Amino acid sequence: MNLTRVFLVAVVAGLVSACPSATLASDDGASDRGAALLGPFKKNLKAALQQGMMDGIPTAITVCKDEAPALAAEYSVGGVVMGRTSHRLRNPSNTAPLWVNAVVEGYLEPDSDRQPAVTRLDNGRWGYVEPIATQPVCLACHGEPLAPDVAETIAAEYPDDQATGFKVGDLRGVFWVEFPGEQTASPGSSNGG
Ligand code: HEC
Repeated sequence: MNLTRVFLVAVVAGLVSACPSATLASDDGASDRGAALLGPFKKNLKAALQQGMMDGIPTAITVCKDEAPALAAEYSVGGVVMGRTSHRLRNPSNTAPLWVNAVVEGYLEPDSDRQPAVTRLDNGRWGYVEPIATQPVCLACHGEPLAPDVAETIAAEYPDDQATGFKVGDLRGVFWVEFPGEQTASPGSSNGG
């Protein structure tokens, strides 16, 4: 195991100097890092939605409208960029970088098992995507038919909405995050374990 890692680090170091956009065989922990970066964003978004729902669904919609972009911005610091997107967007501002769309297309294939996906990007950066399945709680705002007051609020806030008509289990969208690669050669860094 250790030998494999040493070999991999050497390969990575070689590639980084010779060819920054090379594709690697291993994700070198990028998948764990992506999941960890998304954790607080997911948790706080869920809490904001639950809190908003206590004041009724139309209120929750406006809470979501303010909080979702604010939270994404709050956690998009230090070279990290994250967000949510979908093949059927409610908010066109949630359009993602192109590499994310390619992953979403894959999840939409009938035989896809929709596993979290890691992508090696240019400039030593990594991308990580997690699928979001439609759950029963989502149907109040993403299902069909919507309650009249919900439909009205959505139409007022999101005139180009494409995010209704989902069923439980459908792919609703994805969480995505882009982040810089680890400095594998930095002194004092420990990759033990
Ligand atoms: C109270 C209504 C409401 C509920 C319930 C709700 N959403 Fe949404 N959803 C919204 C609104 C409003 C937006 C647009 C937010 C924005 O402006 O970024 C949105 C946006 C999204 C997006 C971002 C992509 C896009 O279309 O803009 C995803 C993904 C998403 N919702 C998934 C879910 C999932 C999964 C659930 C259930 C766990 C859920 N939503 C429950 C109202 C809701």
